[in-house]
Amino acid sequence: MENKNLVELKNIRKVFGKVIALDNVTFTAAKGEIHGLLGENGAGKSTLMNILYGLYSPNKGEIYIDGKKVRIDSPFDSIKIGIGMVHQISTLVPEFNAVENIILGTPKDKFKLPIKEERRKVKKIMEELGLTFPLDVKTKELPAGVKQKIEIIRALHKGAKLLILDEPTTSLVESEFRQLLKSLRALVKKGVTVIFITHKIKEIMESCDSVTVLRRGKVQDTIDKEQMTKEKLVKLMFMEKDIKVTESALPKVELPAIKRSKKPVCIVKNIEVKGKEKSKGLKNISFEVYGGEIFGVASVSGNGEKELASAMINPSLLSNGDILVNGESIKHLSTLSVFNKGVAYTPEDRIKEGILNDGSIKENVLLGHHTEKRFLEKNLFINWNEATKAARKTIKDYNVATPSEELAIRRLSGGNIQKVIMGRAFVSPTDLLITHNPTSGLDVLTVEFIFNKLVETRNNGGAVLCINEDLDELMIISDRIAVLHNGELKGIFQRSEFNKYKIGLLMIGG
Ligand SMILES: Nc1ncnc2c1ncn2[C@@H]1O[C@H](COP(=O)(O)OP(=O)(O)O)[C@@H](O)[C@H]1O
Ligand SMILES: [Mg+2]
Repeated sequence: MENKNLVELKNIRKVFGKVIALDNVTFTAAKGEIHGLLGENGAGKSTLMNILYGLYSPNKGEIYIDGKKVRIDSPFDSIKIGIGMVHQISTLVPEFNAVENIILGTPKDKFKLPIKEERRKVKKIMEELGLTFPLDVKTKELPAGVKQKIEIIRALHKGAKLLILDEPTTSLVESEFRQLLKSLRALVKKGVTVIFITHKIKEIMESCDSVTVLRRGKVQDTIDKEQMTKEKLVKLMFMEKDIKVTESALPKVELPAIKRSKKPVCIVKNIEVKGKEKSKGLKNISFEVYGGEIFGVASVSGNGEKELASAMINPSLLSNGDILVNGESIKHLSTLSVFNKGVAYTPEDRIKEGILNDGSIKENVLLGHHTEKRFLEKNLFINWNEATKAARKTIKDYNVATPSEELAIRRLSGGNIQKVIMGRAFVSPTDLLITHNPTSGLDVLTVEFIFNKLVETRNNGGAVLCINEDLDELMIISDRIAVLHNGELKGIFQRSEFNKYKIGLLMIGG
């Protein structure tokens, strides 16, 4: 009897350090369908598909292709059995043109590559799918949308009967998405199975025959096109099915009732940021953050949260509007001067933007404070005694697991690096802390630790602006939550009005 399913993943578990990325995940995709894989950022979508493609090995679980149990140790194995994957970031050789990239790695006659013949084959696949792109231009000259088409053709040229697309629409405009969809439909007609990863419900509804929803490393449900409604998908994506199990994975943090300051510490007034490339930027955003409150900003990644975080500490990005801290405009200040006004910042990408990779913990604690009087001798040289004191205090207060402040920071775990960054924010008095995804990828105990520090800041009268893509976490620690979608503020909720369904719906533009 023929199998209905092309792919079956059974009881997959994957752990990174203390983070459980996938917990007992079972997933199937039928032959000749577009199967969606939906979930918030960090839900485990890429990890699951990287396991199927052989980039990661699971800690537990089995893979079946067309009913047969297989072992996939590397992409070499997966390509051999007909699996192709297009990643979020292009993997083409920039100096090669499309044809060279597509036939790269094709096993052929040792002495000559039959370029002409391969070129004909490539053209044929392109025609069948209605995908066009220049074959002879170096791929480094081509925009992201075109590179993606080349990667799709490359996978098919290698004989893929399963095509995995990891968030393929990130770099596409609407018309390109339509085009991609047409091509995928043509592929499916020929019997190819497509797995379409996205965090956008709209795209799932428009393109998929069925969808599996992941949430915090667990499968919520798999449903068919007929059962798909926006409401149902929002619920699956944002709300727990089994409250008991999931809640234990959430950090426990107490948020005592306190009085917030009379005047806001920070006023954001009609700010605008021009969008770059696909981003819509920020449109007319206004809000206030008071002392003694954690003001959460919820958004699905890519809706303006990066622009907001950047503009708050680098106001030169503003094309309109103003930001006031303690009643004073910071519009014309440099980032360092903004910091000197009592603003502290912890960036989203803690490795790339948060630290000097080769520096010691001590040097990293000093970073951004290095022009403050306290850390200068004769207004000129760094006072290393003071720096050592500050570093030791940070290590102690933030429970950083390290033998000494002289250790290179890159040797710490992600959680300990984040503790250093968070501690650094409080080396000097801070009125306003801006923190972007402070806990992403950290284990639940570290998450709890970091959140308790945020709450402590709030309880001591500090203002905290917490931009966080994890709605569960925001609902635990925020006094108020603002929703950002498409660069616009879609509403501000008081803690007493928090409702996961309502906020989740606004996050996706409903
Ligand atoms: N190589 C890695 N090392 C450590 N943690 C990882 C790695 N890849 C993913 N993770 C973690 O696993 C979880 C799931 O991530 P991912 O599969 O990328 O989610 P998604 O694709 O749904 O956004 C996240 O908590 C992420 O931080
Ligand atoms: Mg991903």
